[in-house]
Formats: sequence, C-alpha cells, structure tokens
Amino acid sequence: MNDYSRVLSAMRPTGRLHIGHYHGVIKNWVELQYEHDCYFMVADLHALTSNYENTKDIEQHIHDMVVDWLACGVDPSQAILFIQSQVPEHTEIYTLLSMITPLSWLLRVPSYKDQLENISSKELDTYGFLGYPLLQSADILLYQSKFVPVGEDQVIHVELTREIARRFNHIYGREPGFEQKALEAMRKLGKKKSDLYQALLVNYQQNGDDEALEKARFLLTDAVNLSIGERERLFAFLENKSRVILTEPQELVSNTPKIIGIDGQKMSKSFNNTIKLRESIDSISKKIREMPTDPARVRRTDKGDPLKCPVWQLHLVYSTNDVKNYAKNGCVSAEIECLECKTPLIDAIEAEQCKFRENAKAYEGDTNLIKNILADGAEKATETAKETLDEIKQIMNISY
Ligand code: TRP
Ligand code: SF4
Repeated sequence: MNDYSRVLSAMRPTGRLHIGHYHGVIKNWVELQYEHDCYFMVADLHALTSNYENTKDIEQHIHDMVVDWLACGVDPSQAILFIQSQVPEHTEIYTLLSMITPLSWLLRVPSYKDQLENISSKELDTYGFLGYPLLQSADILLYQSKFVPVGEDQVIHVELTREIARRFNHIYGREPGFEQKALEAMRKLGKKKSDLYQALLVNYQQNGDDEALEKARFLLTDAVNLSIGERERLFAFLENKSRVILTEPQELVSNTPKIIGIDGQKMSKSFNNTIKLRESIDSISKKIREMPTDPARVRRTDKGDPLKCPVWQLHLVYSTNDVKNYAKNGCVSAEIECLECKTPLIDAIEAEQCKFRENAKAYEGDTNLIKNILADGAEKATETAKETLDEIKQIMNISY
C-alpha cells in the first residue's frame, strides 16, 4: 500500500554512526522510503544549538554520516536527502513560528532544564538552545509532514509540534472578522460570565483541559441573553473551529529494543561503547568477545541468567529464534560457555555489516558525489518548503 503522505526525519551530524542508530531509526527510514514521500535531513543548525563553539568538523561529520545513511540502504532515488541550512526556508518559518510560541511551552520541555543543569561543560544558557525544540517543529511543519520517525526521547518534541500547529491554525485559520464578532457576543454575556468564559477558553486551548471545555459549554447553554447566532459563534470560538493550514504530525517510534553498548549501558558515542557501522570484523569480534556477561558466571560451570547479561540484549535484536533458544538454554544450564554464546552473535553482526560495507563502496571518499546528492536534495526540498512558506506568509499578511 503506497501512501504518499510526507515523512520528515533528521539527525544531527555527529559523524560516523553506530548500530544503535541503524536499529533505532535508519532501518525504519529504509522501509518508509518505499511507501511515503520521505525527507531525510542533516540537522546542522541543530548541531549549532548546543555545539556552537566547536564547528570545525561539521562538514566532515556530515559526509561521514550521509555515507552511513547510504550504506544502510537509504536511497536518494527514493527519498530526498538534504542539509537543513541549505534550505533557508527552515530559518524563515522558524522566525515566523517564534512569534506565536509561548515562552512557557519551551521552558517546560523536559530536556531543556535537564541539560541546562547537567551539562556543565558547555554554556547552554542561550536563546538558540532554548529555541531548539521549536526549530525542530519548524522542520516538521515546513513539509506538512504527517509522520516523523524518531527515537523515544524525541516524542515530546513532536507533541510540541502538534501544539504549535494547532495554535497557528487557531490564530490564522479564521474567517475575516471572526474574532471581532466573537468579542461582541462575549460582551453580551456580561463582565463576570465573559471573564469566566475567557479563562475557561484559555485553559482548554492552552492546557487541553477538557473539563474547562465542558464548563464553558454549560455556561453558554445557560446564558439567556445570547441569540442563537451569538451562542453558535461562541461555541465555535471555544472549539477553535478553524481552517487547517499546518498539518499536525504523528511520531513513529521504532519498536526495536534499545541497543545496549558493549559495556552494558545505553549505546552512545559519548560513552565510548559503540559498535560503529562499517567497523572492521576484527574490531567487532574483539569488542563482543570482551563484552561483560552475567556476573554470576564466573566459572564455565556457573549457570547464568540472560536477563542479567548485555550480550542477551544484542541477541534479541540480531538472532533468530533458534539461536536465541540455543543461547538461553545453554546459559541457564551452563551447557555452553559465554564465548560459544557470543559466536553466532558476532556472525550476525558481521553479516549485517558486510552489506553496509558493500553499499558504502560507491560513496566512500567521494565528497563530490555526496555533495551532489545533497545539493540535488536541497533543491527538491526547497520546492516543497516554498509552498508551505508562501501560504503561511499570505495568511500572515506579509506576502507583498
Ligand atoms: N532534534 C533531533 C535530534 O537531536 C534531530 C532533528 C532535527 C529532528 N529536526 C528534526 C528529528 C525533525 C525529527 C524531525 O536528534
Ligand atoms: Fe550472557 Fe550468553 Fe554468557 Fe549467558 S551464556 S551470560 S547470555 S554471554
């Protein structure tokens, strides 16, 4: 089933990717590109929001990351690959949306306070860092994207995007004079009821409080001095019946279990515990062989519990049911040693990497080829971006 609704996803250019990126996000992209109109973006401006002091490697990182995308099977003839800053419409829509974004919405994004408090190595008390979830919303809304494949940690940003789309549609998606007419009807309610109505309206529209909606409806039904027309108008005002200009997106979260690093923590470049894409077989094999296992298995004859072993977490992602049974049964009965359990895993990872290395051959080291793919992508992305931006500017009355 082909559904040509748009998909936008993006990654910050952090250089070479690891198998966690592949199973968490890119594998999803590769499937989606055959069924949807996909835009895959290098989020270079996002990298600047927290790494503005250290920009010298960005270009190399972009190259390395995009080669990895291609190695994984992302296909430029199926999807549009581009760099964020090469489509300046991102910056433009970001500025326009910033006008309608309440400061409190940004301040309450959980990762904001977290990172401000926990990352002491960088000065993050900047306007750009506060605004970065809005920049992400701008990316998504610019393409009227219906689906956004993201990791678990990014879901909250897609939620914010929906709220911003709703607010934009609410403010700009009305008939001319709608607001004025609603205000006149409100006056008829009398000061006290009108104040209450407005408080409930704010509570419903900004905080999604359904009870406030109910109360406001009740208040209107009860208000004897309103004409039928006025009452209808206030009902519509309450529920924000407006034209949809910006599409509310849905997140797509991959259901692959989290990839565990070779030390048992979450796999992450900053923990230095990754298995990179296109890493050599020797190096992968060494890393897996040295991986910690269930600490209870000190001797070969000690029984183990796969649930206490990070190696098992990798089996869950890489192994067939037969291999998983072999590992699990062998572990709990101490019939196999850990190295025997690890061998089929090494083989499975290597088989996957083999494909990646093969796919990468055509691109590795060819910076011009990668640049051309991205330039071509930027041109196509710009076409779509301009459509949305033109409409937004018209609606905001700044299209002269
Ligand atoms: N913020 C994302 C990250 O840090 C990257 C990103 C930027 C993104 N724009 C996006 C993801 C739009 C999905 C959609 O990983
Ligand atoms: Fe882990 Fe496998 Fe060793 Fe069990 S046998 S502890 S699952 S590596």
